[in-house]
Amino acid sequence: MLRSLKKRRFGNANAFISLSRQVEHPWWFCSYTLERMTNDDVLYVTKESAEWWRQAVIYQIYPRSFADGNGDGMGDLQGVTQRLESLQELGIDAIWFSPFFKSPQKDAGYDVSDYKDIDPLFGTLADFDALLARAHSLGLRIIVDLVPNHTSDQHEWFKAAVAAGKGSPERDMYIFRDGKGWFGRKEPNNWPSVFGGSTWTRITEPNGKKGQWYLHIFDSSQPDLNWRNPIVRDEFDKVLQFWLDRGVDGFRIDVAHGMIKRDGLPDTKQMSTEMGGVKPEGEMTIEELEIANPYWGQPEVHEINRRWRKIIDSYKDRAMAAEAWIGGPLERMARWVRPDEYNQTFNFGYMFAGWTKEAQVKSINDSFKAFGAVGAPSTWVLSNHDTIRHVTRYGMVGELPQGDGIGPEYEQPDEALGLRKGRANTAFMLGLPGGAYIYQGEELGLPEHTTLEGKYRQDPTYFRTKGKRVGRDGCRVPLPWEAGANESNGFSSTGASWLPQPSGYKTYARDVQRGVPGSTLELYKRLLKVRKDLGLGAGDFRWASELTDDESLAFVNKGVAVIANFGSTPVQLPAGEVLVTTQHDLTAEHELQQDQVAWIKLA
Ligand code: GLC
Repeated sequence: MLRSLKKRRFGNANAFISLSRQVEHPWWFCSYTLERMTNDDVLYVTKESAEWWRQAVIYQIYPRSFADGNGDGMGDLQGVTQRLESLQELGIDAIWFSPFFKSPQKDAGYDVSDYKDIDPLFGTLADFDALLARAHSLGLRIIVDLVPNHTSDQHEWFKAAVAAGKGSPERDMYIFRDGKGWFGRKEPNNWPSVFGGSTWTRITEPNGKKGQWYLHIFDSSQPDLNWRNPIVRDEFDKVLQFWLDRGVDGFRIDVAHGMIKRDGLPDTKQMSTEMGGVKPEGEMTIEELEIANPYWGQPEVHEINRRWRKIIDSYKDRAMAAEAWIGGPLERMARWVRPDEYNQTFNFGYMFAGWTKEAQVKSINDSFKAFGAVGAPSTWVLSNHDTIRHVTRYGMVGELPQGDGIGPEYEQPDEALGLRKGRANTAFMLGLPGGAYIYQGEELGLPEHTTLEGKYRQDPTYFRTKGKRVGRDGCRVPLPWEAGANESNGFSSTGASWLPQPSGYKTYARDVQRGVPGSTLELYKRLLKVRKDLGLGAGDFRWASELTDDESLAFVNKGVAVIANFGSTPVQLPAGEVLVTTQHDLTAEHELQQDQVAWIKLA
């Protein structure tokens, strides 16, 4: 039985909390207008923009795991170049590469020892130039990942800092402090590392004695730079220019919210939050959050954002996106994308909103409101190399904290349910105006590797927590290209693979999905094609409650209704042409089943 559709007038007066709010930025090619902002009705208008990043779909390549060109089991730049056509065919606009710079690989390349060279694992600068040229000739832009918060402990600057001794200018490139207590044996403060344990490691001084401690928000192999030191700023200007001169289209900036630490390095109050001592994060004001988390989102970070934006804008058509995992209201994250700061920021709020009607409404409204208020496009993203793949998250009961993975001893996800919900969320998300991010393999519906044995694990989180948190390796497993071609399903020519694929990956291989109606790959291709052909990335948005009932949700973008059914009773779709749907067997009666999405060109 079909649910009867309850007509509701758009702009229902009872739902209003704040009426018209309008933000125009006439100095740009594009104007973003948040016309109406109500409890459940938003009208958001964008115009086709010459600024490509405002509506781009950016595909993240994790170089270790995309494609292996030389058969050693590790993905590399030549492997990517060989497979670039498949990305053009997918219909994306740009590629963001996780780091491929010289690195001891203690955190899979997020520990850089030379920012201006490629790690031999991935190739050479000449390989990069060839890749860039080929990508550009295919109409694909290239974004590289800059890691400015910390270097590797094998970087020349850090080696020099240790060698030069206390109080030296070399040491001032990093954050060294004397320890507390007897003979400085205690860490200088109580900050916990993101990967577990303390943020401080004690060095042996050049005279052979135990000496100062250095700060590392992540692993001990990743010492934090001192961004209050002008030399650090100058050095990074040169790094940006190096890659911009080479022709890259932009940067994804790693830990863009962490570079400045609060003066005096005061203890974090976070620990006492966990012990019930201070307010929960969700109830804190932005200022309280800045005090509670003295190494996240400090106000002076914005000076660096502005400095870099000037560099970006001194080149044609370049952009930078911030990775800012910033707690508190979305308005806080929106500060990173004010007109003279980053072009974009990852919308982590949306990533973790969840596939429910209420969560989608709230997150989308909040996003348009927060980003619209500063004239920035919202971005939409569901997966990346730091999180459990969304098709797997959606097949689980309960959520694991970000950065944690799933191990063989955990309760295992429901793969079919997760895939259904994951496809639905992607189809819903790609109908929204703004920028979008896709993580490699999600176009195949690839699930997380949830049974990876401890002996294969490489994420520092696993080691620093003694296996208590299994970490992020499960979302970083090499991609299956040709089912059964060899043990790695064509990832490498030899079958070698730096992390083993789970047995099920064969069924997700690209070649078994290509050209197959209803496959996840063909769904993504169709979504991206329609999105591009109709310019939905630069479209206009309004909720369309007149098309839905209590358990379904719809919005209209440029005359296309994007409708999702969250309930178990089928929903009748409005008249019009079905442009794309997650429900391959959509009948002539237009009945949309649970966790399915359809895009309808309204009649
Ligand atoms: C970012 C990266 C993550 C890395 C960390 C330290 O969050 O996305 O992979 O481990 O920074 O660089």
